[in-house]
Amino acid sequence: MILVERVTKKFKKIPAVSDLSLEVGQGEVVGLLGENGAGKTTTLRMISTVLSPTEGRIVVDGMDTLQRPEEVRKRIGILFGGETGLYEKLTARDNIAYFGRLYGLEERTIRERTEELAKRFDMAGFLDRKVGGFSKGMRQKVAIARSVVHDPAVILFDEPTSGLDITSANMFRRLVQEFKAEGKTILFSSHIMSEVERLCDRAVILHRGELQYNGTLEALFATHGSRDLDEIFMNIVGAGGAR
Ligand SMILES: Nc1ncnc2c1ncn2[C@@H]1O[C@H](COP(=O)(O)OP(=O)(O)OP(=O)(O)O)[C@@H](O)[C@H]1O
Ligand SMILES: [Mg+2]
Repeated sequence: MILVERVTKKFKKIPAVSDLSLEVGQGEVVGLLGENGAGKTTTLRMISTVLSPTEGRIVVDGMDTLQRPEEVRKRIGILFGGETGLYEKLTARDNIAYFGRLYGLEERTIRERTEELAKRFDMAGFLDRKVGGFSKGMRQKVAIARSVVHDPAVILFDEPTSGLDITSANMFRRLVQEFKAEGKTILFSSHIMSEVERLCDRAVILHRGELQYNGTLEALFATHGSRDLDEIFMNIVGAGGAR
């Protein structure tokens, strides 16, 4: 579903991602791990067509991100960490609808989908309130709902649980499991090892823009003789990138 082939991204000649290849199959959940500056956000941005690779190519659902960016965008839902970029003066419902229109959905579809998402995300109580007074967890729910309003086949989340409390983070984790059960393809970055361990079929570890590991966590645990992902991670990156 997602194919990243020998991709390099340079910012002013400095590589942020180097010769990266990876695949995420349909219905697979893959965690993107790496310390600050490892290239996680850059990778997700390139897959989402926001950034162009300097070299290599990316294909989403059979479509090249450079040749058919609009088609690719229709098939993916994106949630980038930090600021959710919601319109404070609009209600949660109108924020979601606004995105639905950007994706070219019909009003009726937007209405139905919003109701469905509100039920699923337990947002009915604040769906028609302005986002301005929302807590971080409420905002994140709206941001997630907005990112999947067009029912995308591929979901990209950049540090989706950072800054969330346990209840909101758990809500997010449940959602990922539901999306997976629906057959969606999910690639998300995280600094939380236990989250990746719990949710992902596979982990991809980046260090300074280079792929350090791509495989199941079980295999990684077996190789290192430990189930402590934090310790393994420190071994991999601490060794200066030895594989
Ligand atoms: N727009 C940009 N211009 C210049 N350099 C950039 C730009 N975006 C990212 N970089 C650089 O690319 C490298 C990878 O950054 P990236 O944001 O992808 O890392 P990350 O793994 O998401 O880190 P974090 O965990 O801190 O979010 C960093 O060295 C960063 O400074
Ligand atoms: Mg990042």
